[in-house]
Amino acid sequence: MVITNRDSGTNVHEIADGIFRINTPVRIPGAGGFSFNQYLVVDDTPLLFHTGLRKQFPLVREAVESIMPVGKLGYIGFSHVEADECGSLNEWLAAAPEAVPLCGTVAAMVSISDLADRAPRALADGELLSLGRHSVRWLDAPHLPHAWECGFLADELTSTLFCGDLFTQGGTDLQPVTESDILGPSEAFRKAMDYFSHTRNAGALLEKLASTNPATLACMHGSAWTGDGAQLLRALADELTA
Ligand SMILES: [Fe+2]
Ligand SMILES: [Fe+2]
Repeated sequence: MVITNRDSGTNVHEIADGIFRINTPVRIPGAGGFSFNQYLVVDDTPLLFHTGLRKQFPLVREAVESIMPVGKLGYIGFSHVEADECGSLNEWLAAAPEAVPLCGTVAAMVSISDLADRAPRALADGELLSLGRHSVRWLDAPHLPHAWECGFLADELTSTLFCGDLFTQGGTDLQPVTESDILGPSEAFRKAMDYFSHTRNAGALLEKLASTNPATLACMHGSAWTGDGAQLLRALADELTA
């Protein structure tokens, strides 16, 4: 793990072949420690998945720049439309002249075609996009854990599922990547914060994600995780339907 900003503690770590986790720990008054992760896929057409908060743009930019030239980014992807997922989208589009937003069709239609300074590349459910060595497949996941436009990306080269807000763990000073239990901590967080929608389709959507058989879950908040991802996604489904 390499610290890229001493003041904020922003750090980078390669969690899978060519995939870097960028992590910034924060303290939220009244809620304690938390963290925001972005994932950089270094390839012929590099992808940044999640922009980070608009106010954290200088920190995330500095972290990306420690790995590759920011101007070479090709896609700025995100799961759904919230500040931590895409708040600095236009700052990234300005910094990377070739980059375009990458999102699902609902996000493109409802928000990004208007909010973004360049037109998005909208991916249909199940659509595969080559980045070079890596290929990422978009999986629609409406309202899981929240937002109609929500979806995730699965990388075929490394069997990494960029699972956004699923398995959110609170706290700071967590390992970049862990094999320990993340379901228990994330369930404690979900029960305290109620940030999941109450969609009846959660079980079927989690089964769709499990069918990609991920070996790495690239969580947006807390540690990334390695292990039998399908089993863990099914365990989450059991918790949600219990
Ligand atoms: Fe979210
Ligand atoms: Fe998030």
